[in-house]
This record gives sequence, structure tokens and C-alpha cells, in this order.
Amino acid sequence: MERTFLAIKPDGVQRGLVGEIIRRFEVKGFTLVGLKLIHVSRELAERHYDVHREKPFFAGLVEFITSGPVVAMVWEGDGVVASARKIIGATNPLTAEPGTLRGDYGISIGRNIIHGSDAIETAQREIALWFKEEELASWQPCLAPWLA
Ligand code: TYD
Repeated sequence: MERTFLAIKPDGVQRGLVGEIIRRFEVKGFTLVGLKLIHVSRELAERHYDVHREKPFFAGLVEFITSGPVVAMVWEGDGVVASARKIIGATNPLTAEPGTLRGDYGISIGRNIIHGSDAIETAQREIALWFKEEELASWQPCLAPWLA
């Protein structure tokens, strides 16, 4: 089953958006299989954003991600990687569509609420980076037949 990695960034946690963000993925129909609130180390932040190491915003991004607690999650479901990216919206909250998390709750690219893996392979790498296998629960929600 397809999985993605999502992380509510320090601004999302500080602004009290954790419940609302989790709700959006739950009501969509995806299954939560991993969840933890952690203070991200500099090492983890740098490895997570390794592809951006040479970018001018890299230092500020690492500073921000390590500045307060982050809610790290793994969600499961058909097409969850692409669907979660749609729910999250464009990188810059000012151009993200209303109705998306970034479109509804942000105005700054450097404070864009939530991270979501951009491809299935990226998701696999990020899940392995953030979670141990035993921290993930594989389970089947007992869906009524008309929801399955
Ligand atoms: P990126 O992977 O391009 O975006 P996304 O999070 O939508 O996959 O960039 C990673 C993060 O880096 C992004 O969420 C916010 C930050 N960032 C900046 O601060 N400035 C920038 O110009 C860009 C492109 C990203």
C-alpha cells in the first residue's frame, strides 16, 4: 500500500493547526500509520533537506525546522503521495489555491505549515529517515461497505 511522509512544521504546531491538519487527511479517507511530535535535530533536518543543501534558503530552512516541535506522520492509501500534495497546495502559500492547507493558512514561503513527500521514492526515503519500522502500525480501518 502506498505511503507518504508528512510533517507539520513548527509554525503549524505553534498556531494550533495540528488537529485541523490531521482531520483533513482523516476525512479524505487516508489511514494514519505513524505519528510523533519531536524536536528535530540539526542532523535530521540537514539530511531531510539534503537536495536543497546548495540553495540560498537552506540555512534558514534548517534553522526554522529545528526551532520548535514538529509533528511527523506517515499516512497510507491509494494515491496518497500525489493527493497529499494537492491537499497541501503550492510551495508558496501566497500562490497556493484557497482550500489547500497552505492556501488557507499561510502567507510566507518560509512559513508554509506542512511538508509532504513529492514522489513515492522520496516518501520511502523520508519515512526511513524519520521513523523506525516498529513505530509504524499497519492496520485496516473497519470501513462500512459504502465507504470502502
Ligand atoms: P521545496 O521542496 O521546493 O518545496 P515543497 O515543500 O513544496 O516540496 O522546498 C522545501 C522548503 O524550502 C519549502 O517548503 C519552503 C522552503 N523554501 C524557501 O524557504 N524558499 C524558497 O525559495 C523555496 C523554493 C523553498
